Amino acid sequence: MDSKTVCRPVSAMYHLSALYAQDDNPSKVDLLIGYYKTEQSDIYALPVVQRVETLVTQQIKNHKYLPLLGSEHFVRDACQLLYGQDVKERLNNGTVFGVQTIGCTGGMRVGADLLVSHMNCTTFYVSDPTWENHRLIFLSSGFLKAKTYRYWNEANKCLDFEGLCEDLSDAPSKSVIVLQACGHNPTSLDPSKKQWERIADIIQQRHLIPFFDIAYQGFATGNTDKDAWVIRYFVSRGIELLCAQSFSKNFGLYNERVGNLSFSLNSSDYTAAYKSQIELSIRSSYSSAPNHGALTVHTIMNDNGLREEWLLTLKNMYDRVNGLRHTLRELLEKSDAPGSWSHITDGKGMFSYLGITENQVEHLRTKFHVYVSLTGRINLCSLNDNNIGYVAKSIASTLKEVQ
Ligand SMILES: Cc1ncc(COP(=O)(O)O)c(C=O)c1O
Repeated sequence: MDSKTVCRPVSAMYHLSALYAQDDNPSKVDLLIGYYKTEQSDIYALPVVQRVETLVTQQIKNHKYLPLLGSEHFVRDACQLLYGQDVKERLNNGTVFGVQTIGCTGGMRVGADLLVSHMNCTTFYVSDPTWENHRLIFLSSGFLKAKTYRYWNEANKCLDFEGLCEDLSDAPSKSVIVLQACGHNPTSLDPSKKQWERIADIIQQRHLIPFFDIAYQGFATGNTDKDAWVIRYFVSRGIELLCAQSFSKNFGLYNERVGNLSFSLNSSDYTAAYKSQIELSIRSSYSSAPNHGALTVHTIMNDNGLREEWLLTLKNMYDRVNGLRHTLRELLEKSDAPGSWSHITDGKGMFSYLGITENQVEHLRTKFHVYVSLTGRINLCSLNDNNIGYVAKSIASTLKEVQ
């Protein structure tokens, strides 16, 4: 077979992770991929999830395929987590519906495919910067125009809200606006409630299509209801939307690929048509979703005791990350790291954005063996008592040594 394919890393993040694995310096620190890690640097397996997984494995009698749209039980649970318990009626009347997907990534892809093939959408907007995969997903689905809206204000290290509003106000109608509901990746800065209200105004006035990505529900405030506020607010205003949910981070089920894509619509007129189009897209790509992770989530969500334990664990995870935010800022200030660092404690979710250049990222890696993403994003959960002082000093020295 002939091929013109050029071999290059698809993801800068995975490429840096491979370099980290090869690095034999004992001081090396991995602040790359968004895993929640323990104080001992292990990827955390939530105890309640581990117990339920064992139970679920014993209960599974066979491995028959799930339906094309996935497990209905799981989809209901996921929609309730997102929209609140009172969504049941709308699930029954078809104005809200969901589809089990291969993680949030799969949900975005299935949604993007539908928007191109069925709704003739051609333009999408993502924040500048955003999660590295958004662009790839939407372009691979056949969107023709990739646009950005301003998000990070480099000079003041804060949200560029006026820039964001200007860019969305210029978007042509029917543009798809990718919005992160909470714990923005990579900047960790979320709009305030007042700012979301203004974003909703623009979306409504300009006839734009909001496509939410919620990958960190529970990590922004420690409370899953509060973290879903913006979705429920948009719904309360009658704004139709799509939302892709991840259970990778809040259940620690990264490689089980648990996700849900849901739609909130003002009528159920097109629900059957959308579902059949989605079935076509799923049938022709991966046919049906995996069972194990979704069944684990379903089991936890439907037992009051297990659910309470999960929510408490999530709150403890949030508290730890929040503590790390404050300690990192303190240590950076103590090390006289040039610049202001309030954006670290203003941030929400798993990450922090350092606001440093690619040269400085490179210097951190080559001189100090501290690995951060090319955009200068760090995974706060990878910090611990043993490495946080070293990381702060390395950042401070890098900022003094490299422009
Ligand atoms: C904003 C955002 N969306 C989606 C994902 C991927 O989620 P999943 O693992 O469920 O595909 C991530 C993280 O990896 C993310 O940061």
